Formats: sequence, structure tokens, C-alpha cells
Amino acid sequence: MNNIKRRKAVLIGAGHVGSHAGYALASKGLVEEIIYIDIDEKKAFSQALDIFDAAVYLPHRVEVKAGNYNDIDDADIMVVCAGPLPNMNQTRMDTLGATIEVMKDIVGKVKNTKFSGIIINISNPADVITHYLQNKLNYDPKRIISTSTTLDSARLRRAISEAINVDQKSIYAYALGEHGESQMVPWSTVTIAGKPLFELMKEKEKYSKLDLNELATKGKRGGWDVLGGKGSTEFGIGASLAEVAEVILCDEHRVLPVSVYLNGEYGQTDVYASVPAVLGRNGVEEIIELNMNSDEKKLFDESCKVMKDNYQLALKM
Ligand code: 2OP
Repeated sequence: MNNIKRRKAVLIGAGHVGSHAGYALASKGLVEEIIYIDIDEKKAFSQALDIFDAAVYLPHRVEVKAGNYNDIDDADIMVVCAGPLPNMNQTRMDTLGATIEVMKDIVGKVKNTKFSGIIINISNPADVITHYLQNKLNYDPKRIISTSTTLDSARLRRAISEAINVDQKSIYAYALGEHGESQMVPWSTVTIAGKPLFELMKEKEKYSKLDLNELATKGKRGGWDVLGGKGSTEFGIGASLAEVAEVILCDEHRVLPVSVYLNGEYGQTDVYASVPAVLGRNGVEEIIELNMNSDEKKLFDESCKVMKDNYQLALKM
């Protein structure tokens, strides 16, 4: 008999990011079961209940519950979204020490389970924490990734869209490297409706006036523009997580800029960095190597160095 399997997601962390990530998964109807785990059990219970109440008005049935690490053996995806948010005076990398403390506890508990699904880490500094988790859980690197610059790329596309009055969905542009201060934009690979932005800049006045540095900064600063007014970022990351989860759960073989383990690609080894990757139900299927120009490659390499250095620090913590 071929039983139809229920799809199940476990979210470790029921804070701002976890709650919105769970709601985004529920709204898209991507799973039939969501389990929240948090050291604050009351909070996990309340977030789960709140989303479950919403589910009656959502298009797909989903059960949302608070649980514990005994519930995760058969989950298809695990979303790690625990740890501190940076404040306005911190970078994401500044939260490394505090997040590692939280991760130590999570690693110890996940190790005692039979979980073998796909891990999507959101916790910051996202790329370094993903590498840390991969190492400590001794996990197949193809099955553990981070949303990383999926979100920065959305912010970048929003900034470009505002400047040229073309919808974000028709703009192919990636922020790559770190989900953080050293991220970079390979502008030579940006296309609008398939046409290179650099060609449009030569041909049309509207495009020739673009200040690319300013647009890259706007994208990078996006998180802080949101954080500044409300003390947290949540909808953007929730939607980014659901997008990554959808590509995996629906085995879409679609390309997203996510943090993946580089093993020779882009001339980099033993580092997690955001690059365009084809994702499917087994995780990372292929890493697309963009042809960056030499200035862009230098910026990408510098970003990788930041993450490599901080990963070494993390291992000593
Ligand atoms: C964000 O970019 C702070 O990493 C969080 O929204």
C-alpha cells in the first residue's frame, strides 16, 4: 500500500522570525503539520495556537502544535530560527557569540534524534551559523542551507524596481556572499527581462542615471530600515523562508540565492556563502557559477574571507 505522506516542518524558535516563517508556510499550504520548539514553551504554545486559529481561514488544512525534540524524527524540513536579533548598533556578525550559545543547546538535542530532512537555517550570522551547524551535526552539506541573501536579493530588487519602475519579478539581481555587511552585488550579471543591465545603461537615459552603489547600499541597509521602525524584521524573512521551503518541498529545481557549502565553486573551499543554486527535494542540486568580472570576484572573495574567519572563531567558542 502506498500511503500518502503528510508533510511536516519543525521550527526551532518561536520568536518574531519563527512566527512569521510558520505563518508563511501555513499560508502557502506547503505542509500539513508544523511543530514549534522553543525553550520558552509557553511562547511556542501560543504561537502555534495563534497560527492554528488562522488556519481555518487559510486555503489548506495545517495542524500547528508546540512540541519537543521527540517530534522531529519524521519531519521533512527543520527551520532554525532561534537566537538574538541584532539591535540597531550591531551587525549580524556581532551576534555570533550569543547565537553560538543557543546553537550548542540545539545541536546537542538534534543529535539525539533521527531527523534526516533538509535543514534551513535563518539564525544570524546566517552563513557562519549554517556552517557551524553542518559541522557540529556532521550533516550532508547538500541538505543544510541558509536563506541568507534570498532576503537581501529581495531588498535589492525592490530598490532597483523603485528606481526604474519595473516590477521586481522582471528583475534578475542577486546580492551574494554574506547575509551581512560584506555582501556584494555582481552587477555585470543583472538582467531586466533577460537583457543585461549594463547594456540598458548604455542605451537608455533612465538606466544610465542609476547609481549602482547607492542601490546596493539600499538593499543591504533594508534590514535596518525595517528594524529601525519596529524592532524586528519578520514578513520579508517569513516569505523568503517559505520560498526556499516551497522549492524544496515541491521539488521545483528552481534557482534561488541561498547560502550553500562551496567546495571549489567560485574558487572557494570550506565556506558557506550565498550563490545561485538549484534546489529540490534533496537539497542543493547544482551551484550556478556566474561569470563575475574581476572587481566583483574580489568583493565576493573578501566576503568569503569574512565568513571563513568568523567560522574559525565560532568553532573556538
Ligand atoms: C534581516 O535581514 C535581521 O537578518 C535579519 O531581516
